[in-house]
Amino acid sequence: MRTLALPHEFPGANWIGEEERVLVERVVMARSPFRFYGENPQRMVDTLEREWCASFGHGHAVAVASATSGLSIAMSALRIGPGDEVLLPGYLWISCVAAVVRSGAIPRLVDIDDSFTIDPVDLERKIGPRTRAVLVVHMNGAPGHVAEVAAICERRSVALIEDCAQAAGASSGGRAVGRFGAIGVFSFQLNKNITSGEGGMVVCEDPALHRRIVALHDLGYARDVNGRLDTGDESCQLWGYGVRMSELAGALALAQLRKLPRIADAMRAAKWRIREGLSDIPGLGLRTIPCPAGDTGPFLITLLRDEETARRFAAAVHSEGIAGPGGRPLCVSMRDWGLHWYSNIPSLVRRTSNSRDGFPWSHPQNSFAAGYDYDVGALPSCDDLHARSAILSIGSTLAEQDVDDIILALRKVARLVLS
Ligand SMILES: Cc1ncc(COP(=O)(O)O)c(C=O)c1O
Repeated sequence: MRTLALPHEFPGANWIGEEERVLVERVVMARSPFRFYGENPQRMVDTLEREWCASFGHGHAVAVASATSGLSIAMSALRIGPGDEVLLPGYLWISCVAAVVRSGAIPRLVDIDDSFTIDPVDLERKIGPRTRAVLVVHMNGAPGHVAEVAAICERRSVALIEDCAQAAGASSGGRAVGRFGAIGVFSFQLNKNITSGEGGMVVCEDPALHRRIVALHDLGYARDVNGRLDTGDESCQLWGYGVRMSELAGALALAQLRKLPRIADAMRAAKWRIREGLSDIPGLGLRTIPCPAGDTGPFLITLLRDEETARRFAAAVHSEGIAGPGGRPLCVSMRDWGLHWYSNIPSLVRRTSNSRDGFPWSHPQNSFAAGYDYDVGALPSCDDLHARSAILSIGSTLAEQDVDDIILALRKVARLVLS
C-alpha cells in the first residue's frame, strides 16, 4: 500500500519549534534553571502551573519530574500505606502498581470492559473494608466511564486518583480529566500528548492536599516567599521525593501546553476519520469510547476475533507499509504491548520487593491480601481483550493522504484476516 514512512508518533515532540526554543533560551540566558531562586528566575514552572489550571479548571497544579513520581506523591498525599489496598485496572502502566507497592499498600486488580478502562461493575464488587483508593487510568488518550467511577467512589467513601499520564487535554462530558478525583497525575515523557522529555503535573482541588503535594514533591516542607525551606510549620513536616521540575523542563512544557489543543485536535480528527472509515467492516471491533469529543486521539484500538487474528492483523498492517521512520511498527498486537498489562509485569506477578524483608507483601498489616491473584487468569475480560486486540499509533502530524492510506490499508487487511 505504501512505501513512504509515516511521521514519528511522538505527539508533542513533532511540534517542538521556535516557541520552545525562545522559552528555553530565556532560561539559559538568565542562567536560572532552578524554579525557586537563582540569578534571575524566569518563572517558567510557575507560569506553567498557572496556565495549566486556567486551561482545564483545576484548583491547584504542581509540576513534577515525572508521572511515576507524581503517582507516589498522590499515595503519600492521601496517607496511603500498609493495611490499605488500592484498586486499579489490569490495563495500566507499571508505574501505577509501583506507586501503590512503594507506599506499602497492596494493589488489587479490577477488570476492564471494552472501553479498555476500569469496569464499574467489577469495581463496585471489589471495594471492601481495606480499600482506601481507586486509581483510574485514562489509557491511550481517552477516559472510560470516569463519571460513573467517581460516583461509586463518592458513595463508597474511597478516594479517587486519576492517572491522566496518557491523556493531557482529554475530558469527559465537558469536564477535564483530573477533575473527577481527589488527585490527577499527568506525564510529559516523550510518548505523551505533550512533552518536556521528562516531566509531569499533579492536580487537585483541596488546598490542604495541595500543601501536602507541594511539600512531598520537594523535600517534605513548604517554602517561604524567597524559595527557602520553611521547617517551622508542624502540620507539614513530611519526607519529600525530591522531584521538582527544572525551569528548562518548565519552559518546554509551557510552550507545549500552549500547542496542546492543536495537537489533540489533529490526532482526534485523524483517528475518528479512520474509525469512520472502518465502521462498515463486519467482525472488526473498535474500542468503546463513551465521550468521543473528549478523546485526544493518539491511539486506535481494534478488536479481532482471537489472538492469532490480532497478530496476523498487526503484522499485515505493517507489511502494507503502515510504519514509522526506519520501519518502526506503528500497529502492534496487544500481546506485544509490554508493561501495560498486569500479567506482563513480572515484579507484580512474583510480588517482588525492593528490600530484603519482602515489604510490603510481608507486612503483617497486609496479610489480608495473601490470596490476591496477579497472574494471567485473574481478570477474564482483561485477558480476553489483551489477547485479541491490536493498537495503532496515530501521529499528530498526519497529512490527509496519510490518513487515506491508513484507512485503505486497514480495510484491506481487515477483509483479508477476517475472511
Ligand atoms: C498510564 C501511565 N501512567 C504513568 C506513566 C509514567 O509516566 P512517566 O514516564 O512520566 O513517569 C506512564 C508513562 O508511560 C503511563 O502511560
